[in-house]
Amino acid sequence: MATSVDEFKEKAFRVGSVFTPGSPINERDLFAGRLDQLSKIIDAVSQKGYHVVLYGERGVGKTSLANVLASFLRDQTPNVLLPRVNCDASDTFHSMWLKAFKDVFVTNSKASPGFNSHAVTEAKSLADAMGEKIGPDDVRRVLAQLSAGALVIFVFDEFDRVQNGTARTLMSDAIKALSDFGVSATIMLVGVADSVDALVVEHRSIERALVQIPMPRMTEEEIRLIIRNGLARLEMSIISDAETQLVRFSQGLPYITHLLCLHTARAALARRSDEIDGNDVREGIQAALHQWQQSIITAYYEATKSQQPGNIYREVLLACAFAQVDDLGYFSAAALRQPLNEITGRSYDIPNFARHLKELSQSGRGEMLQRVGAARKLRYRFKSPLMRPFIIMKGVTDGLVTPEQVTELSDG
Ligand SMILES: Nc1ncnc2c1ncn2[C@@H]1O[C@H](COP(=O)(O)OP(=O)(O)O)[C@@H](O)[C@H]1O
Ligand SMILES: [Mg+2]
Repeated sequence: MATSVDEFKEKAFRVGSVFTPGSPINERDLFAGRLDQLSKIIDAVSQKGYHVVLYGERGVGKTSLANVLASFLRDQTPNVLLPRVNCDASDTFHSMWLKAFKDVFVTNSKASPGFNSHAVTEAKSLADAMGEKIGPDDVRRVLAQLSAGALVIFVFDEFDRVQNGTARTLMSDAIKALSDFGVSATIMLVGVADSVDALVVEHRSIERALVQIPMPRMTEEEIRLIIRNGLARLEMSIISDAETQLVRFSQGLPYITHLLCLHTARAALARRSDEIDGNDVREGIQAALHQWQQSIITAYYEATKSQQPGNIYREVLLACAFAQVDDLGYFSAAALRQPLNEITGRSYDIPNFARHLKELSQSGRGEMLQRVGAARKLRYRFKSPLMRPFIIMKGVTDGLVTPEQVTELSDG
């Protein structure tokens, strides 16, 4: 346990490298859970002809999983080649593969000219060996060669950002070619999407070759593991109630867990304690709210501003954050009744807040909600997964709900 002031300062500094809301996990020891997804991917990778699509919401941990995958595969086989590409809006098929091949080095052994002839090894980036325009067939040939000596996985992260339709079609063609020729290398496409259809074009034609892996929100157990792994690394602890609150506020999003743990751990260390308590959580939430994505903070203020005393925009928004959602995150107006009544202590019904819901889906009020469906079957969903936890924590900080109510309301 830390004792001197310096040790607390040193720890407060180290917290920032253990809880990293700004960056994906790179280190296996800090990577929690996700065993189900990992084993599915490892299965697919170890079999010929299968390729992987990993999709889900922003911030659920897709990139982190891709980052630690190589380390898990090395448990099974030493020779793993796993280049990872970050796709962007301007990418073509050629540019994506060029980026991928830049990270692959091939060594050529050749006898050096002259008397004392001994072998010289030169490492060359594979990108230099590629022609003007890389096509699916080039990819198939190069990957076949590479996979003779290693387990080969090419990861294309943020594939949803690729705008170029041809690039996506060619990627499907490449997958088809690899599969048809029985090449053992694997392509793994990763991106933000509700479904595979949104990520892969003409996926029907390559359906048999695709292992589709949805990345859901984390379970409470997995979130708890993030908190415990991180605190163990820091030689810190947390009292049980405070831990439960952090788990609840996280809503299955590891990004939020990191953000909250960063600030609550610092709050504890600031009062020279190695143990996080409920007060630290309250302080941590305050600090975390200031560090939230600016676009969400702005949208919230637009959504809740009003001249009229007694308006219920904040309360309606908070009720939205507690509303029961379907698999895709949509809720109905009726789902607001119960949480809104719990929050306000009054009995509102749909006509009292239908207008609010409509406005919250429009630009004048931050456009926080997306609205789908026909007139009597309207459904709503938050635009960003980071909005719900923000609204709930803001609600606690502003005294609209107590932490205990949050637990009750999240239990439904
Ligand atoms: N399995 C995990 N264990 C611990 N922290 C995680 C895990 N997955 C994600 N995180 C953390 O959650 C945040 C978002 O993860 P990231 O991989 O960037 O998500 P995505 O790529 O899906 O947007 C990061 O701060 C990352 O450190
Ligand atoms: Mg990512």
